[in-house]
Amino acid sequence: MNAIKTFFKTLLPSKHFFQLSCLLFVFICGCTEQNVKKNPIHNESKGLDAEYLLKHAAGQLDLLKEVAFKENRIPRTVGKDGKLHWANPKFDWTEGFFPGSLWYMYKTTHDNKWKDAAESFQSMFESHKYYTSNHDLGFIFNTSYANGYEITKNEYFKDVMIIAADSLITRFNPKVGCIKSWDTDKGWQAERNWDFPVIIDNMMNLELLFKASQLTKNSKYKDIAIQHANTTLKNHFRDNHSSFHVVDYDAVSGTVRAKETAQGFANNSAWARGQAWGLYGYTVCYRYTKDIRFLEKAQHIANFILEKNKLQREKLPFWDYNASNIPNEPVDVSAAAITVSALLELDSYSDNSYKMEIEQLLHALSTEKYLSKIGDNHNFILKHSIGSIPHDNEIDVPLNYADYYYIEALVRYKQKYQK
Ligand code: GLY
Repeated sequence: MNAIKTFFKTLLPSKHFFQLSCLLFVFICGCTEQNVKKNPIHNESKGLDAEYLLKHAAGQLDLLKEVAFKENRIPRTVGKDGKLHWANPKFDWTEGFFPGSLWYMYKTTHDNKWKDAAESFQSMFESHKYYTSNHDLGFIFNTSYANGYEITKNEYFKDVMIIAADSLITRFNPKVGCIKSWDTDKGWQAERNWDFPVIIDNMMNLELLFKASQLTKNSKYKDIAIQHANTTLKNHFRDNHSSFHVVDYDAVSGTVRAKETAQGFANNSAWARGQAWGLYGYTVCYRYTKDIRFLEKAQHIANFILEKNKLQREKLPFWDYNASNIPNEPVDVSAAAITVSALLELDSYSDNSYKMEIEQLLHALSTEKYLSKIGDNHNFILKHSIGSIPHDNEIDVPLNYADYYYIEALVRYKQKYQK
């Protein structure tokens, strides 16, 4: 208070007093207006208004659904040409996320229009349950058919999940102790001299396997998931609990050949979405096994991520935590959405609460800068995600999986804090 008095005493005789007072007045009005604008995502008594944000997301998803129905395709992103880009109908690792988002809307509203749409879009790729040429079946069928099964208990969805799980485990090599992520005989992967590449993203395929064991009472899927998680625990992480993106194994001896990156800044860097996949994956492993090593790994990864996020003004992840120009690097909204959804589950298993960081992340994602207005952004919900900078692909665009994990996080937040 004394400091303020001295400040004004010094200013009073000043000829700038009037101008400064005006500036102060404008500043206070600006702050007040900003506080008003902050709403309606904040509800005075209840905190973040997940109900409102879910309604907003539903508004966008409804519009996107109508466009997608007209084209009979699954939306993925917006291209450099400014046009909506679709998932590749032959096979696309992101194809499960759009029906997955629709399932979440059905879960929260019980409106059959969402269920009908989810069923219709997931049926477009049902035949991919037999695909064995990469590891992505967990991503695809866990977000779509498995979410659908959890809500509807439709036996047909269960059968699809189990076939997909059977296809996925054909890629497991007991000598390595992992599911092989990518084949190396074609595409850009063929140029990398890899033998048996396993990426940290692969941790996200394990949830389908845990569920397959529960549904069939056959432990073979779960056993493979646990072996994969153990091998990854041993070889993918650095002492600071950040992970390499790619670990390449010798398929015959099972030894590690190389630790590299595909989508990160450098072999030794911590690619943000990779850290988020690891966090989510080990949290899920703990859900199904109650193995304390998996919980501790998830907690360590969370701490790594949250420490790094402090460097960013809005506490969002830069696309790679070791990118050369931090803090002037782009953020990856998809990594933020995956992280916040994972933290919401991890929070239930931990003595330390992540509530503050969860609200910080959700709040940042829900500001005008990152959350699209209804009808903008080609009807995607979030803006500013990164697919792969090294591949010069999908940079600073909306992505269907960023939207999926944002919706999942809002559903989890509402369930946890605003029942
Ligand atoms: N492979 C999934 C991703 O790009 O994160």
